[in-house]
Amino acid sequence: MAMDNRSFFSGVLICVLLNFASSVEAAPTGSLITELPGFNGVFPSNHHSGYITFDEKNLFYYFIVSERNPSKDPVVLWLNGGPGCSSFDGFVYEHGPFNFEEGKPNGSLPILHLNPYSWSKVSNIIYLDSPCGVGMSYSKNQSKYINDDLQTAADTHNFLLKWFQLYPEFVNNPFYIAGESYAGIYVPTLSAEVVKGIKAAQNPIINFKGYLIGNGVSHTKFEGLAALVPFAHGMGLVSDDMFEEVERACKGNYQNLIGSCSISIDKIDQALSGLNIYGILDPCYHDPTSDHHTERNTSSNLPISFQQLGATERPLKVRKRMFGRAWPLWAFEKHGNFPSWPELALQGSVPCVNDEVATAWLNDESVRKSIHAEPKSIAGPWEICSDRIDYRYGAGSMLPYHRNLTTQGYRALIYSGDHDMCVPFTGTQAWTRSLGYKIIDEWRSWVSNHQVAGYLQGYANNLTFLTIKV
Ligand SMILES: *[C@@H]1O[C@H](CO)[C@@H](O)[C@H](O)[C@H]1NC(C)=O
Ligand SMILES: *[C@@H]1O[C@H](CO)[C@@H](O)[C@H](O)[C@H]1NC(C)=O
Ligand SMILES: *[C@@H]1O[C@H](CO)[C@@H](O)[C@H](O)[C@H]1NC(C)=O
Ligand SMILES: *[C@@H]1O[C@H](CO)[C@@H](O)[C@H](O)[C@H]1NC(C)=O
Ligand SMILES: *[C@@H]1O[C@H](CO)[C@@H](O)[C@H](O)[C@H]1NC(C)=O
Repeated sequence: MAMDNRSFFSGVLICVLLNFASSVEAAPTGSLITELPGFNGVFPSNHHSGYITFDEKNLFYYFIVSERNPSKDPVVLWLNGGPGCSSFDGFVYEHGPFNFEEGKPNGSLPILHLNPYSWSKVSNIIYLDSPCGVGMSYSKNQSKYINDDLQTAADTHNFLLKWFQLYPEFVNNPFYIAGESYAGIYVPTLSAEVVKGIKAAQNPIINFKGYLIGNGVSHTKFEGLAALVPFAHGMGLVSDDMFEEVERACKGNYQNLIGSCSISIDKIDQALSGLNIYGILDPCYHDPTSDHHTERNTSSNLPISFQQLGATERPLKVRKRMFGRAWPLWAFEKHGNFPSWPELALQGSVPCVNDEVATAWLNDESVRKSIHAEPKSIAGPWEICSDRIDYRYGAGSMLPYHRNLTTQGYRALIYSGDHDMCVPFTGTQAWTRSLGYKIIDEWRSWVSNHQVAGYLQGYANNLTFLTIKV
């Protein structure tokens, strides 16, 4: 197969989601979505969207009123990771109100069906494109695309204050912050800002209760190979012999990629190549445009579309389709600027992910008009993961944040899809355990529809680590 000899360890690995108006809604004028191209049904609740603007930054949100009890249900802010990936990933592919069926003939608009598992069934949910420059969020001043962890947290907090001013009827609802992957950084840093705002009696007072993080990053020590090697072994992707060899050679420090450690890591690398890292049981999507190429550069580990990236002006379409929802596994090991998506693509990347439906829908001007997003000529084309931001991380380990937040009584649900190899559960289990909190609810299965749906361990301070069988 085309991608069998692609290396997981060649440079950077990219791991990188009408009308029930029973309550009186004081939503801003013009924010209500009245129709959506591709959807012919009745909206099960009100949908609102638009921009909130400050400091020359136009931040785009899509807000869905709960289909259950809007005045009592929590308000949830959802953030996808990257950094640079749009929260429409969550909206289109994960837990949004619609299931998107590919349009026919291909290239035409997708068909939208209601999603029976939408998080809007039980919560008022805000999908935010953050930081500025991501998804539909934009600025006319390019320097606003330069960002870092703490600036992002401050901006998102500012967004929330303004959002609750526009939607004051939701300010007393319990509020939760949720996200996945790189949002493992966004969520705790933003939570800390929100708590600071509450303590400073900043208006409006947000009724913050806690946070949720799915397959999120937190601390280098628990990430990358440290999590991947035991995951690969436990999941039967590498043999006992290979596992013992790598243990001997690397002596517990897999980041030390020299000599025999490096060689045994390469063997593991070979064993894992070709898998969909976001779900090892899922098929790997092969971009049809790269399948058209018959000749392949066998001395390179990259799919042909990547090899040509530097040499020719390949359209962005090909690249970003490969990025996925992504978090570059090795990026923490370097300091300073976060590499741009094209830079990562040149160093090696992970294919398998298909973002065609979202790309087709969100770049259609009639769709953009219905959701009150600016046209491409102003906000730029929608990309699942944006090339235009210049992102510097630097908030450091998230463990002190988790400790502070949970000991102050904020609830934390730290969950892992157990077949994700990008930010595997092994690392998440290890860091939650490392906090040293008393076990309140010892490791056990949890059940949904009379079936075991995963496992959980409950700790003191309302911290829960939970896996989901997926
Ligand atoms: C549409 O799908 C057909 C069959 O898979 C394929 O041959 C064709 O290239 C596709 N067209 C476009 C515009 O993607
Ligand atoms: C763009 O933003 C930068 C940084 O905030 C600011 O210094 C500069 O004056 C802005 N440029 C314009 C043209 O407004
Ligand atoms: C094939 O890939 C290798 C390694 O990336 C590169 O050095 C070489 O120039 C490529 N060959 C061709 C014909 O593109
Ligand atoms: C945690 O709380 C302490 C005491 O309030 C504070 O000094 C420290 O800056 C906080 N750390 C983080 C990461 O929020
Ligand atoms: C845990 O959360 C529940 C629900 O918000 C709350 O009633 C309880 O007091 C919390 N427990 C601790 C130890 O913070």
